[in-house]
Amino acid sequence: PPLDNIINMHDFEVVARAVLPEKAWAYYSSASDDEITLRENRMAYQRISQNRVWFRPRILRDVSTLDWSTKILGQKSSLPVYISATALGKLGHPDGELTLTRAAANYGVIQMIATLASCSFDDILDAAAPGQIFFLQLPLFLSSSSSQSPMIRRYVNRDREITRKYVQHAEARGIKGLFITVDAPQLGRREKDMRMKFVDDDAGAEVQKGQDVKKDQGVARAISSFIDPSLSWKDIPWFQSITKMPIILKGIATAEDAILAYEAGVQGIVLSNHGGRQLDTSRSGIEVLVEVVAALRLRGYRPGPHFEIYVDGGVRRASDVLKAIALGAKAVGVGRPFLYAFCAYGQAGVEKAIQIFRDEFEMNMRLLGARTLDELVPEMVDASALSSH
Ligand code: FNR
Repeated sequence: PPLDNIINMHDFEVVARAVLPEKAWAYYSSASDDEITLRENRMAYQRISQNRVWFRPRILRDVSTLDWSTKILGQKSSLPVYISATALGKLGHPDGELTLTRAAANYGVIQMIATLASCSFDDILDAAAPGQIFFLQLPLFLSSSSSQSPMIRRYVNRDREITRKYVQHAEARGIKGLFITVDAPQLGRREKDMRMKFVDDDAGAEVQKGQDVKKDQGVARAISSFIDPSLSWKDIPWFQSITKMPIILKGIATAEDAILAYEAGVQGIVLSNHGGRQLDTSRSGIEVLVEVVAALRLRGYRPGPHFEIYVDGGVRRASDVLKAIALGAKAVGVGRPFLYAFCAYGQAGVEKAIQIFRDEFEMNMRLLGARTLDELVPEMVDASALSSH
């Protein structure tokens, strides 16, 4: 259908499914095991809007002028939404992640670049507009040995050196935040994806150069030889020692780990289950948010510019975003909707997705009586159903 007929994020998914080759659809849409967490990521927000947690809108506030712009890690963003890292964009569009980069430049949105992007890091930055803001997502130590290998220790030092160079190169190129993925010490079993075979020309695969790629178990598994399961809290000071970029841990799922992250002195956390692609039956980010905010408050730890909380997973509407912000998130990450938008329509699709979010912010904020994101206070959401456990 023509792009004009697209009116919400769900429409992009329907079109992407129709136009994508089976293998790309399997890699993008799949999640681990029985995909219970994948469904829960959506259900959590639908429960919020249906019968568990409701908006508490305020009236008669002169909502003629609205502003939904914000700062994420101190960087200007036209929306409280950033483009989360998703790997292998060329499976879905010949220009891959560059479609995101160009749309993000035109609309003042921040893109998080995946290390396993199909386009190389430098190609993406070379295509950027002057002053365009990026974050970088990092897999750990880039272990080129298989994660099962007893030889892994031998590689850690060498891989650390590669990681150090990569991080320092990113900093030199002006990346504004380093998102370390912490929920993937091993890859989730994405069964839909595993039924597909990886072939050499898949995704332009910058990622496979010199790698021991296993080709018979799906796209995700073929690139998973980068994963280092030995990563631990002890490594965080090492990351802090090699860069001045803010460090954010992506994939926190409990109050306990949020507290450890705060105490480790990182600049933020993403409450995320990796879009349902890692531990199946882990909870949704919005559900974890309530627990995390309460636990931090109990300890006297205050989120703020020195420690920001983000949420991702299942966000498809501005109303989802507004609820997360009212409950204490600084911004939210969005993965698949932007991915499906460029699969179906390239850069224009991503721009349309951003416009849809913008239109939804306008209407929802006006009806909520919140003129700025600062006016989104916890009292605007009745979250008693989420915080009762
Ligand atoms: C991802 N995600 C991801 N995360 C990460 O830290 N490194 C990565 O390489 C990838 N790759 C990736 C590929 C694909 C195809 C998907 C769908 C997701 C997870 C991503 O950053 C984010 O956490 C989720 O996508 C958010 O959920 P939604 O918005 O897709 O529901």
